[in-house]
Amino acid sequence: MGGLFWRSALRGLRCGPRAPGPILLVRHSSGGPSWTRERTLVAVKPDGVQRRLVGDVIQRFERRGFTLVGMKMLQAPESVLAEHYQDLQRKPFYPALIRYMSSGPVVAMVWEGYNVVRASRAMIGHTDSAEAAPGTVRGDFSVHISRNVIHASDSVEGAQREIQLWFQSSELVSWADGGQHSSIHPA
Ligand code: PPS
Repeated sequence: MGGLFWRSALRGLRCGPRAPGPILLVRHSSGGPSWTRERTLVAVKPDGVQRRLVGDVIQRFERRGFTLVGMKMLQAPESVLAEHYQDLQRKPFYPALIRYMSSGPVVAMVWEGYNVVRASRAMIGHTDSAEAAPGTVRGDFSVHISRNVIHASDSVEGAQREIQLWFQSSELVSWADGGQHSSIHPA
């Protein structure tokens, strides 16, 4: 077994979040396949914050088995929003979207886990609230696309870009045991 495994195993004897470390692979002692510790950006938008939905969102992600590795509440700077939504600048709804996202604080989070990017998109539901299935965040709490409560990155590459935009690496933690248990994630 490689040194990476033993270092990971020794770290696993301790609990709780640690200073940031490399995000590589989790390798279980069963010798099963490794999986990449994927991360995604999730942001509760101003309407979600004002409606006191932050706790519900966190609870959904925790219960699903994902690990919170970063979180902050902030009034999003317009420069950050402009970069975040740079691909939408020509859309007719762009000015309204920036106004909406600037209308109050957002709660930005980084969640980690197996396939977390794809799973998060399923958990938040369709962008257009009218299409969002019951049981999803938008399907449960939102009635219009312009007030759709929550954002989640739509690809692994997009997630990396967005996490770097919203968070300093010093604002993210690595859990000593990976924040995962073999009974939650595949071994
Ligand atoms: S598009 O048009 O297909 O590129 O847009 P889409 O991928 O569906 O959504 C991208 C983000 O734009 C937001 N959006 C809107 N905001 C306000 N008003 C309207 N009409 C609107 N249409 C789309 C949508 O919520 C997406 O933002 P995020 O933050 O990713 O949810």
